[in-house]
Amino acid sequence: MANPKITVIGSNMMDLITNINRMPRSGETIEAPDFDLGFGGKGANQAVAACKTGAEVVMVSRVGDGLFGREVIKNFDSHGIDTEYVKVVENTTSGVAPIFVDQDGNNRILIVKGANAHLKPEAIDQAKDKILNSDFILLQLEIPLETVYYAIEFGAENEIPVILNPAPAADLDFNYVKKASIFVPNETELETISGMPVDSLENIKKAAQSLLTKDLKKIIVTLGEKGSLLVSKEKTELIFAFKVDPKDTTGAGDAFIGSFATFYAESGDIIKAMKLANKYAAFSTLSTGTQKSFYTREEFEKEID
Ligand code: RIB
Repeated sequence: MANPKITVIGSNMMDLITNINRMPRSGETIEAPDFDLGFGGKGANQAVAACKTGAEVVMVSRVGDGLFGREVIKNFDSHGIDTEYVKVVENTTSGVAPIFVDQDGNNRILIVKGANAHLKPEAIDQAKDKILNSDFILLQLEIPLETVYYAIEFGAENEIPVILNPAPAADLDFNYVKKASIFVPNETELETISGMPVDSLENIKKAAQSLLTKDLKKIIVTLGEKGSLLVSKEKTELIFAFKVDPKDTTGAGDAFIGSFATFYAESGDIIKAMKLANKYAAFSTLSTGTQKSFYTREEFEKEID
């Protein structure tokens, strides 16, 4: 079987990960136990997860002209991700993400877009030939919205299914968004986008179902330790999480989406792909860091054997 081909049109960031006992109050200085620098950005994370699970990945992205940008490109190259369309923006810093991980492994993330803000619709025209060869296009919202909409239209016109991860949540134009094949928010994003409460599973289902009235085709809500929820006109189905004791959940949603794209492209079976992606995401929480906590396909298969 040929490897799935996936194009990610999205962000990359340097993650500045600080483990904290608690957040400082205004005007207060406190000590934090640990710090780590790692490769992140929702687009890059999803690209690495798709690649590590066996897809051939093309990355369309922008980096700054400093040290971080060069390292980000080297990191993509080290995974075998196609970086022909990862371009350097002169006189601009790369995207960075200060991340605070608490003692329960939960995270709070700030992003500074930097060069990611320069990924314009023209980038899609430039990479057209490679994108046309893809089984899926993966999109997130850490790049300009005009580029996200252009990519959705490109996918729709060329019959390439688009998986849209609306993260971080934004005010969206559903005239474009409805053309994506699968919409994948987490609970917080679902709450912001639907304007409905997500404080119980029942309410999460209602909030996701409300998006069907905006003509979305399929919605997968990532629910962390509760699993993932598929909502379409035909069915609503909860896929339970694979239980683990998480150390750091940063990037788990990206691990889910990137691996899901590979598994779905391989089998065409959405429930099977969600079950596998739930497991892949769970394993990514067992060690610290974002991309470096993602298993290779071999490591993953050994675990699920
Ligand atoms: O989803 C996790 C990611 O969000 C981090 O890697 C950070 O860079 C932000 O983009």
